[in-house]
Amino acid sequence: MPPVHLHPTELALLACLAALACVCVAASRSDAPRGVALPFVFDTRATCAPPCKHAGLCIRNNTCFCSRGYEGETCQYASCYPKCKNGGQCLRPGKCRCPPGFGGKYCHKVTCESGCWNGGECIAVNGVAKCICPSSWAGSKCQEAICPQGCRNGGSCVAPGICSCPEGWLGGACHTAVCSRPCLNGGKCISPETCRCRAPYSGPRCEEKKKTH
Ligand SMILES: *[C@@H]1O[C@H](CO)[C@@H](O)[C@H](O)[C@H]1NC(C)=O
Repeated sequence: MPPVHLHPTELALLACLAALACVCVAASRSDAPRGVALPFVFDTRATCAPPCKHAGLCIRNNTCFCSRGYEGETCQYASCYPKCKNGGQCLRPGKCRCPPGFGGKYCHKVTCESGCWNGGECIAVNGVAKCICPSSWAGSKCQEAICPQGCRNGGSCVAPGICSCPEGWLGGACHTAVCSRPCLNGGKCISPETCRCRAPYSGPRCEEKKKTH
């Protein structure tokens, strides 16, 4: 198709198209057709359905000329330069929405949600942000201390190697029962306030000697 001729109003419009390689002539007061030769066909009666988005121009039937930073059939997609990394989505030119675990203007930085505690380091493993924990700490945020000895009887590991024991238990692994009054006659405190007695003794503290008949 031959190049089209444009009116001054259309010229002003075209002057706004930054990316366009055209030669613009000064707008004339004359009504005589004057104008520019475009490198593509600009049909002023063109209709685009659905319409061009993000200030794109309908230059031919169903052909949009997108403004800078947008692309797609109807200029519906924002384009980001540099591109959004790590699966980030371009929301509008220069603005990426990052997937969980990534941050920065282009989603190029790895971030561990809620951070890494206790000296853990946030790194990307196969595209997924993870805390790498120092030995003696574990969990997604390195929030769990490791007690190699184990914490028994309902104790919880509160710091590396340190158990917090429930009432009635003591010891590094909460393995020692507490009998506030000691077990007598060779009895053994086997759980809080509970003695296991040696024969022939019995009673709460093994203080009674069984009667023999
Ligand atoms: C564009 O579409 C309109 C209406 O749909 C139609 O009348 C016109 O002929 C089309 N123009 C071209 C160049 O195909």
